[in-house]
Amino acid sequence: MKYLLVFCLVVSASYGAIDEHRISLIERKFQDLARQLMLTELAMGERTRSNYDSGIKQVRSTADGTKSYFVSTHTFNSVCSIHEHSNNDRTVGMGEFTANLNGVEFRTRHNDYRLRMPHRRSKAYHALEDIPLPPTPPSVLRKRTLPEQIKELHNYFRAFSFQNFHFRDYRPYFKPVLCYLEGTWTVDTKTLNEPFESDRHHIDATSWFDLQEKIRFTSYTGGKHYLENFSYLPTTIMNMVNGTPEYAQWNYRIVCHPLKKDLPLSAMKPVDDMAARIGHRWNITRFAHSRAARFVLAPDYNGNRNKYEWQNGYGSFPDRRTSINSVLDWVMSEIPGKDNYPAKLTDTTFGKRILDPRVHNATELNTGYYHRYYRHERKGAMGTFNAHRGYSDRNLFVAQTSNPNVAEMKIKWCGKDEHTHKPFCKEEGVRYSYAIPLEIIYLNPLMTWNPYNIEHISDHRKANIVTKNGRNGGLTQDKAYNGTSFNKYYRTPVEFYQTAHTTVDKDAADTARGTVGVLDRHGNVKRVLSSGVRITLPDIPGIGKIRMRYPVMPITSEGSQIGKEVEAVKDVLNHLETMGAYLQERPSALSGGGNAKADAHFRTSVTNQDPPGHHFHEMFIPNEDMIDLSKGHTITVVTTTDNSHDHKIEVSYDQHTHKYIIHKCDGQDKCWDGHTAELFRLE
Ligand SMILES: *[C@@H]1O[C@H](CO)[C@@H](O)[C@H](O)[C@H]1NC(C)=O
Ligand SMILES: *[C@@H]1O[C@H](CO)[C@@H](O)[C@H](O)[C@H]1NC(C)=O
Ligand SMILES: *[C@@H]1O[C@H](CO)[C@@H](O)[C@H](O)[C@H]1NC(C)=O
Ligand SMILES: *[C@@H]1O[C@H](CO)[C@@H](O)[C@H](O)[C@H]1NC(C)=O
Repeated sequence: MKYLLVFCLVVSASYGAIDEHRISLIERKFQDLARQLMLTELAMGERTRSNYDSGIKQVRSTADGTKSYFVSTHTFNSVCSIHEHSNNDRTVGMGEFTANLNGVEFRTRHNDYRLRMPHRRSKAYHALEDIPLPPTPPSVLRKRTLPEQIKELHNYFRAFSFQNFHFRDYRPYFKPVLCYLEGTWTVDTKTLNEPFESDRHHIDATSWFDLQEKIRFTSYTGGKHYLENFSYLPTTIMNMVNGTPEYAQWNYRIVCHPLKKDLPLSAMKPVDDMAARIGHRWNITRFAHSRAARFVLAPDYNGNRNKYEWQNGYGSFPDRRTSINSVLDWVMSEIPGKDNYPAKLTDTTFGKRILDPRVHNATELNTGYYHRYYRHERKGAMGTFNAHRGYSDRNLFVAQTSNPNVAEMKIKWCGKDEHTHKPFCKEEGVRYSYAIPLEIIYLNPLMTWNPYNIEHISDHRKANIVTKNGRNGGLTQDKAYNGTSFNKYYRTPVEFYQTAHTTVDKDAADTARGTVGVLDRHGNVKRVLSSGVRITLPDIPGIGKIRMRYPVMPITSEGSQIGKEVEAVKDVLNHLETMGAYLQERPSALSGGGNAKADAHFRTSVTNQDPPGHHFHEMFIPNEDMIDLSKGHTITVVTTTDNSHDHKIEVSYDQHTHKYIIHKCDGQDKCWDGHTAELFRLE
């Protein structure tokens, strides 16, 4: 806009004398225009706010189909594109998504965030600390042999899996962490600041301007940055000060908070995202165990952990209205805004105090922590009233901050002095950020347990010691990694997962799981598996698969009339037995349809080839294709996207060995990144 002004001046100069009158006229018109622009942005924001709740809107889609439900929404193969990078010590795999926070719509880069939390003592902007990983239970460490240690550690996993802390008190070793998406308007309009650290992805742009140009380009062509390193983050005019617009830049981050007390698994139940479910022909049980599932937190929590029932390993509580005491309000209220944990702020704009709705007396609310409910004080003896943040936004959690890196919203207001009754006017400014929960991750003792006493190189700059001289994790003396590092984090003995009397060929099982060799301090090769964050742990003998990541993100569409109607209709149709009475005309009989077989679920072997690094892919094969396979045909399927790539695979079925085989991978005989030919059927 400055250029516009210069341009006007040049134009007026070329037309003769620069007369004062004309300049001030242009200045005024320019101010009017800038203000109108601000109001246009407000109108767009108001439209978004009335259409949607804060939440996740969409993930990148890679496939098509004859029905719209074969294409992703906020989920399809995996909700929010979550995946694993368990070879990193504290990286949580999460792809790109579009989200809305209080009417601001933005698109993230490939996220892959780390297990870090706001600083406990520093208020510095984005000061973070590593979240402590849980220790290994002493009763495990006391055992002298590896098989004994494994047996005792299995007991803890068994106790966690059955939520039985009388058998073994697992609670100090299975720590729930709430990871959340936080966004706000910042004053960093010039230099591009990486919003949060990822071992794997950084915004590939030199300035905000550069990023905007790159996003504009990919939006124009429909193309994509092949490494998924661009985000769309809007800018706005925050205030007009003496005719000069004050710009602000939207930015977001994903950080985590270790919950102060245990959150029982029964306090989470699966949400039926029916499009993704029907897209895979999955029943609700099968869906709930997939990466595509989301969970909802229980209505309330009164310390009685037996309150909620279990069904298929997940909570099953009745749906009902909630208030300030919901589990979601409890967990979010532990999270500070941009002042970090020392946050202590109150908001008295318009001369009214904001009170804590959880207590009955007039205690001021610490607005430096996230909340969606508050109590407002009224003038004189008129008492108080309860309020919810946002006009109709169910998921609007806000926190105040004093940090000058967050753009300030100013307001002029007038009132009367309480004592002298003299009228006065003043200008105040406040700074707020917004957040929604993303997922609850249970940290577990495998993250620290190191029975082989393998040396860990914690200094990232020295991490290449591990791979020096072409060491790639092979199972021989010269190829095994020399110790572990932040992104070669393999320390769990294969025996922890492997059954002693396995019918599967041991070597095949090793490649399938991604076993690597690591040298211990005496130079002996140890066979180990990755120990970082996983969505579901591999099968533990006698216990089974345990889910460790519970996505709890809200979605945008439930904020509209359509979203709410569809959810009600879905409930009646899903529960005809108990809710069918709400239908105006009842069906006389149901045909019992819907027995179509679920998609078969496969996985490639794990590859450690670098690039592209430790990973595997999943694939879903519809029943019709499975029938073709059994007849000896080959079929084509595209894998999930992992480590920023997928494969187009021609699958065949070997009638003699009864194995599913990669016939062609991206048109070649072998996958370029080293997946073996064999495919592993998960379900
Ligand atoms: C983009 O992301 C990839 C990971 O897929 C990472 O290796 C690379 O360093 C990033 N590029 C830039 C310029 O940040
Ligand atoms: C749900 O589907 C799974 C596999 O797709 C099957 O094993 C299970 O029996 C089904 N459950 C019900 C209740 O039909
Ligand atoms: C409000 O009640 C709490 C205990 O419920 C008490 O600690 C606090 O001092 C009270 N505050 C006021 C202002 O009365
Ligand atoms: C492994 O690394 C350590 C340093 O951490 C070094 O002393 C040792 O010689 C290395 N071993 C081999 C076999 O390269």
